Amino acid sequence: MKLFIDTADLKEIREIASWGIIEGATTNPTLISQQEGHPHEILRQICEIVNGPVSAEVVSQDCEGMVEEARELSKIHKHIVIKIPFGIEGLKAVKKLSEEGIRTNVTLVFSPSQALMAARAGASFISPFVGRLDDISNNGMEIVAQIVDIFNNYPDIKTQVIVASIRHPMHVVEAALIGAPIATVPPKVLRQMVKHPLTDIGIERFLKDWEKVKDRLK
Ligand code: G3P
Repeated sequence: MKLFIDTADLKEIREIASWGIIEGATTNPTLISQQEGHPHEILRQICEIVNGPVSAEVVSQDCEGMVEEARELSKIHKHIVIKIPFGIEGLKAVKKLSEEGIRTNVTLVFSPSQALMAARAGASFISPFVGRLDDISNNGMEIVAQIVDIFNNYPDIKTQVIVASIRHPMHVVEAALIGAPIATVPPKVLRQMVKHPLTDIGIERFLKDWEKVKDRLK
């Protein structure tokens, strides 16, 4: 499973991309609103740092507006993928954009039937929101598993699942066990994934023991 970073925070993206594990990034209007500067400039800089798809979301409500916005956003950088909120207008926009060769990521997906429709409209990616489903006492990961199964049943579907709205490391592990191709993970969770107390204790012990042999190197 590939790991994307789910933030528009350039400092975080720069730092975590340097770990060598990030293959894409996702943003949304909320994440962009938390940063200073022109949204297009933020997106351009993310694309310079991350060598992979970078999702930029449209805010228009109708197909024509979404397509217009998508054409503008896709001029920013070749890494840009257009995030389209799920809906009838969104489906129409995805169809049009896929015919123009513009990649899309259908977002705010909460059910397998929505995922199937987005795939059939020609979405390159779809983003089921696990955490937000869990928040309303639904099993978000069960929905992801059903979507992955459905896509695997039909090899002509090339749409990739990006597991989104990830809240903790176990969401990442569960997504990988299901066989989801991509998870987009907030910086906080990526940092939590690094940590294990036995790793820290192990390093401390190795360094302490090495002190005993250091003199022999002279
Ligand atoms: O890409 C955005 C998505 O991951 C939303 O996450 O935590 O706002 O539900 P959250």
